[in-house]
Amino acid sequence: MSDLKCGATSLDKTLDAAYWEAHYSANTTGWDLGMVAPPIKMYIDTIADKNSRILIPGCGNSYEAEYLLNQGFTNITVIDIAPTPASILQEKFKKNAAIQIILGDFFEHQGNYDLIIEQTFFCALPPTMRQKYVWKMHQLLANKGILAGLLFNRTFESGPPFGGNQEEYEMLFKGAFDFLEMGKTQNSIAPRANSELFFELRKNSTVFVNRYQFENIKCSASSKDVTEKLLTIESVLNVSRSSNFVEILIVSTTDVPGKTVQDAIYNIKENKELN
Ligand SMILES: C[S@@+](CC[C@H](N)C(=O)[O-])C[C@H]1O[C@@H](n2cnc3c(N)ncnc32)[C@H](O)[C@@H]1O
Repeated sequence: MSDLKCGATSLDKTLDAAYWEAHYSANTTGWDLGMVAPPIKMYIDTIADKNSRILIPGCGNSYEAEYLLNQGFTNITVIDIAPTPASILQEKFKKNAAIQIILGDFFEHQGNYDLIIEQTFFCALPPTMRQKYVWKMHQLLANKGILAGLLFNRTFESGPPFGGNQEEYEMLFKGAFDFLEMGKTQNSIAPRANSELFFELRKNSTVFVNRYQFENIKCSASSKDVTEKLLTIESVLNVSRSSNFVEILIVSTTDVPGKTVQDAIYNIKENKELN
């Protein structure tokens, strides 16, 4: 892995099911608000179609799901990789056909949703997974489906949570989604005041959103060179790269073969080596 160091952020922990389960078992769940986040509650109150197919990934104790049920929504799916919250929810809602509770990995999940609600799931993932997050959200949403919720508008010394800012998020989602809203919240809970963005994005169903993985790329070309080169490929609208250089997300109007992406990258490398 020594060649994956171009600006890479490395994590000293693996954020897998065991990591999250250990926090639930030890009751060290500082992220748990004990209530639906006010900006999300306000958003849910605007949704007219109670039969919308709604997904909540990384749901934890999912007060959002409980609020949706209380408001009469009939088609809710929640998923978490940690057994404890999944079993608590299974017990709590065991006779309720309006909610499906899944113990599993969001990235393995298959489905078709009208709305996906984001509440401290994005920030729980290693930043190197952000391209995969955008790709997976795009896959799981139906035509014109909506991804909405909260993102941190600040950084943290170490994560999780991993933060960011509006500009970064705009670059990440650009092309794959249309921005209906992204801005500072006015009604976050006190400890998160002035540090959250509420966003509502609509899936752009007219584009291809593809992930390409390059495990062995040496970083002879700068991030800017690679992005600029890939943007010259015909039909490419947006390029986003993970901080460890492994994942490249390309939004385009036609399907771009992996070989085209690879050739473009290797072409930069060869030119650099000749200079
Ligand atoms: C910071 S917690 C937030 C939980 C909940 N959304 C809340 O606000 O209370 C992140 C959650 O994401 C779950 N998680 C992390 N990676 C996941 C994955 N790949 N698939 C599904 N759930 C995941 C964790 O188990 C944890 O419950």
